[in-house]
Amino acid sequence: MPDVLEITATDLNTEEFINEKVKEIAETVGSGTAINALSGGVDSSVVTMLGHKALGDRLITVFVDNGIMRRGEPEQIVKIFKDLGVRVDVIDARKKFFAALKGITDPEEKREAITQTFYKDVFGKLVKESKATYLLQGTILTDIDETKAGIKRQHNVFEQLGIDPKKAFGYKIIEPVVQLRKDGVRKVGKALGLPESIFNRMPFPGPALSARVIGEATETRIEKVRIATSIIEEELASVHAFQYMAILHEDKVTGMRDNKRDFGNQIEIRCWDSVDARVATPTELPYATLKKLAERMTREVPGVVSVTYNITTKPPSTMEAV
Ligand code: XMP
Repeated sequence: MPDVLEITATDLNTEEFINEKVKEIAETVGSGTAINALSGGVDSSVVTMLGHKALGDRLITVFVDNGIMRRGEPEQIVKIFKDLGVRVDVIDARKKFFAALKGITDPEEKREAITQTFYKDVFGKLVKESKATYLLQGTILTDIDETKAGIKRQHNVFEQLGIDPKKAFGYKIIEPVVQLRKDGVRKVGKALGLPESIFNRMPFPGPALSARVIGEATETRIEKVRIATSIIEEELASVHAFQYMAILHEDKVTGMRDNKRDFGNQIEIRCWDSVDARVATPTELPYATLKKLAERMTREVPGVVSVTYNITTKPPSTMEAV
């Protein structure tokens, strides 16, 4: 892999960058068609806008509904892009993902099941069916660094598809934001007219809500953590933290409801102050906020009888529990 020339956020001229990338995509794809998967994250959103500017209707953008997104997320993302004049096709793959997650409790096996289902079973098939000649992908420089260092391994589409696309089908990969890091991508997103909810989006892991469930990610357990996530996102919306999350624990504890014993679920709340996610400290949330969170979680999330707040720093903790 040849070294990629970095463009730092400070050096970045967003207008020049956008013009250059739009021109590059248009020239590369020529009269063909391209496809890309939009997740609503800032990288894939920026790539979608660049591809749309370059190709218009010749870009097929798909949003894969894997069933482990937050409440209303597929609809919200489609609406945001519709308002920007970009058509997004939603692919309902919920059954496939839940089938792949069935019986899996190990965190790394969960990640692997999601990655394999996405690339091999869902997106890989869509790419083939679409007859697109190019695949637009939101790889950023940090992804390349992490792939090289062996930290993450899900960024090589060639490998994940289990094919050599160029040899087998003539697909080529275009990575328009590969010279940028997250802060640069956010700047380009803003310049492209994406709403702040996208260009300043709080980090959300690729394995989505399945990373917020300790143990098996069944539909019922995902729904519990989905409700908990909505509550935390509403209650902490004005808190300037790096990231906040609700986690559904596997262990149950004894609680009481209507004067009866109720052996129920536990939700753990985490809220982090951090600059780059490498080290982090828990935000000193006001006690009244924590109390409100506990009240809402026990009232609104079925079966929850205990709510805790994480007070551990990273390291030795990590930000996500799974
Ligand atoms: P950790 O838990 O490693 O998280 O302290 C650091 C940051 O990375 C995000 N994260 C992930 N993102 N796939 C992702 O795309 C993953 O498997 C994953 N695990 C953690 C996490 O949300 C945090 O911002």
